[in-house]
Amino acid sequence: MSLPELKIRLYGDPCLRKKCAAVKEVGPGVRAVMNSMIETMHQAKGVGLAAPQVGIMERFFVLDVGEGPMVIVNPKITKRSGMAALEEGCLSIPEVTIMMHRPEKISLQYMDEDNRMMKMTCDGLLARVIQHETDHLNGKLIVDYASGPEREKYRGKLKELEAKQKE
Ligand code: NI
Repeated sequence: MSLPELKIRLYGDPCLRKKCAAVKEVGPGVRAVMNSMIETMHQAKGVGLAAPQVGIMERFFVLDVGEGPMVIVNPKITKRSGMAALEEGCLSIPEVTIMMHRPEKISLQYMDEDNRMMKMTCDGLLARVIQHETDHLNGKLIVDYASGPEREKYRGKLKELEAKQKE
């Protein structure tokens, strides 16, 4: 079976602004999509890719912070502590980086690609990526957190991306 071809949706695509639905069960079809998403993410040199970014309105994402790919389904962040500042980019908003302040350490519950309930506590880049991708599942993007000067700086770029979506 060949993997489904996926296209990364860009800023202005309505898929990026909707709340995704919980996954009931990961079956062979969804698993094939997950594998394809991992490939797409690696090709794009990203560290995370959420389902709505490829037009699938379900609560899961893939990530790889350098320790091998991981699939997170139905994430629920149960604990947050500390605060850290780090610049974030997004495969759906090329050439835009926003200085983001987020909790440094998180605990979460999720399901893995084999439908097993998992728990994890993490910090650093992994915690960062999980929070960024979980935002995607709720239709939230890094530009929503932009400061006044950042908004000003990227106004033209975002307009351009939006206009492309309407073509
Ligand atoms: Ni993103």
